[in-house]
Amino acid sequence: MTKRILVLTGGGDSPGLNAVIRAICKRARKQSRVAKNEDWEVYGSIEAFNGVLNEPQEVIKLTSKVTAGIHVKGGTILKTTNKGNPIKFPYPQPNGTIRFVDRSDELVNKLKLLNFDAIINIGGDGSQKISKALFDKGIPMIGVPKTIDNDLSATDLTFGFQTAVQIATDSFDKLVTTAESHHRVMIMEVMGRDAGWIALHTAIAGGAEICLIPEIPYDINKLVKRISTRYKKGRGFANIVIAEGAKPKAGTITSSIGDKGSEHVRLGGVAYQLSKQLKDAGCPAEIRETVLGHVQRGGTPIAFDRVLASLFGVKAFDLALEKNLAVWWHLKIITLLMCR
Ligand code: F6P
Repeated sequence: MTKRILVLTGGGDSPGLNAVIRAICKRARKQSRVAKNEDWEVYGSIEAFNGVLNEPQEVIKLTSKVTAGIHVKGGTILKTTNKGNPIKFPYPQPNGTIRFVDRSDELVNKLKLLNFDAIINIGGDGSQKISKALFDKGIPMIGVPKTIDNDLSATDLTFGFQTAVQIATDSFDKLVTTAESHHRVMIMEVMGRDAGWIALHTAIAGGAEICLIPEIPYDINKLVKRISTRYKKGRGFANIVIAEGAKPKAGTITSSIGDKGSEHVRLGGVAYQLSKQLKDAGCPAEIRETVLGHVQRGGTPIAFDRVLASLFGVKAFDLALEKNLAVWWHLKIITLLMCR
């Protein structure tokens, strides 16, 4: 009997997505080899659920030829979007505004026609809200948690996070030597949205003098005092890591309006904000700012994330298999026990 799984990736990309896809496919092929009368086929929807919603549909078969060696590649071979929420689908209007339409029933009908035995949605909090909504409408969903921000509940460690921390730490190390040579204060801004995980890990790994995270609003006067004390001691330089979502005690986060059709504001630029605040508060040092941005999400995943992502892929298939044998469906957000 032929069994069919659909895989998709949604939201911002994260190094390791391709390793999850490949692991699902490899595990499915193994199951086809060892199980009597079970032939598992894996398909991918291009650009999250858009591949199913689009006419003509963009759903491709993930053969061994398609997935060979992809675990080394960053990004996602299935492409992704953060403007494809089927519950709040954005339609640009002629007057430049966006009209949001609930297309979940249309999606459910299309998915039912495609008749998949399980659908594996690899994504962050937004994507898993979609998984839950579809599950509640009778679609057999499995959620694989994903984000470089490492901020998902029920999941201890997400793949891509360690790669982002490594990239940030490598950049931080470079900034330290130039800060020291020029007696400067270097501010390095990292991603993470509302969570300070990337900033904190980078600051510890790199040995930052100051680390600012969204969870603890900062006091600008304390920072100036700290920097001044270092300069008085004669060291004459300081390296600061700041998370993009950090904010001062008296102030708000630094954000700009999101892209058309996106449900979120864009973070970024807090490094420049902090630089100005420090100068205004009397910081004696010369200051430079670096905003790392999307380099943190690009390139090849480090070995740890390839392994973690592969484990998530295998586990996701096993859940599909388990569900296949059960009478009723579960939505399962996978938590990896080995990381506890
Ligand atoms: O959630 C992952 C993340 O990289 C955040 O750290 C960052 O704020 C956001 O995505 C950037 O989103 P975009 O790629 O849409 O600019």
